[in-house]
This record gives sequence, structure tokens and C-alpha cells, in this order.
Amino acid sequence: MRQALFALTRLLALSAVTTSCGAGFCFAAGDPAKGAAIFERECALCHTIGKGEPNRFGPNLFGIIERKAAAAPGYDYSPEFITMAIWTWSPDAIASFIAAPGLTIPGNRMSVFPGVPDAEIDDLIAYLAAQK
Ligand code: HEC
Repeated sequence: MRQALFALTRLLALSAVTTSCGAGFCFAAGDPAKGAAIFERECALCHTIGKGEPNRFGPNLFGIIERKAAAAPGYDYSPEFITMAIWTWSPDAIASFIAAPGLTIPGNRMSVFPGVPDAEIDDLIAYLAAQK
């Protein structure tokens, strides 16, 4: 009985942690300097992130957190992306997208990129959030 109670308490604690991620709280611990290096390695081939920098194969990502999806000026998004991505980018939404771009929005042009490993996501989001 005690064990069952313990398990239940743990479950409740875990779900509390999960829901507290909603406002981007989960990413508070990320290190933007580490995130910059990850961005260089995994994203910069296709994306610029400085203000006013040109689009590459992918759109410029300046201010991407809290930006409307599919809104980089002058970038020709795929029909798949435009149809599905009708949200404003929260840290959580970006985390799910970059973990598996092809699963989140099937057929979008970033699907050739397999996704960021879980261990790198917090740092990367902290870096993205700082570019505004
Ligand atoms: C192989 C090239 C490529 C790589 C690598 C890549 N992306 Fe993308 N990304 C794209 C393309 C292309 C799109 C637009 C998709 C479309 O229109 O179908 C996109 C779209 C996005 C968007 C949505 C932008 C918007 O305006 O709504 C975000 C956010 C994003 N990428 C983040 C990242 C991050 C972070 C990384 C590195 C972890 C990354 N991408 C790596 C090609 C890439």
C-alpha cells in the first residue's frame, strides 16, 4: 500500500513537471552559449538568425520565439508548412518541431533534417530566445 502511494505521488509530481513546461519554464536552464555552437553546427547551413540577414534554404530565424509561423519576409514556404503551421512559435512548439521536423509537419522542406537530440534542445532554445 505504501508503495502504491509512493508510485502515485511520483506520478503526480511528474505530471506537474510536464505541465509547467507550458509557458517555456522548462527551458530556463538552457545555456545560450552552448546553444550558439549547436546552431552553428546543425542549423546555420540552412538558416541565418541575425536581424535582416537573408533567407537561405530555410527562412531567417531572427526573433523566432513568439513570432508567427511562416512569416519570414520574402521566404517561399512549402504549401505543407503554410497549411499546418498556423501557430505562433512558443519554446515548446519549436522544441517538438526541431526534435522531428518530418513528423511534426509531414512533407515540409526541413524534413531532410533528422532532428536535434533531446540533450541539446534546452541550450538551443535558450540561444534562439536570446536572438530578438
Ligand atoms: C537542411 C536544411 C535545414 C536545416 C539543417 C534546418 N532547417 Fe529549419 N527549416 C528549413 C526549411 C527549408 C524550413 C521551411 C520549411 C518549409 O517551408 O517547408 C525550415 C523552417 C524552420 C522553422 C520555422 C520557421 C518559420 O518561419 O516558421 C524553424 C523554427 C526552424 N526551421 C528551426 C531550425 C533549427 C533550430 C535548426 C537547427 C537545429 C534547423 N531549423 C535546421 C531547413 C532547415
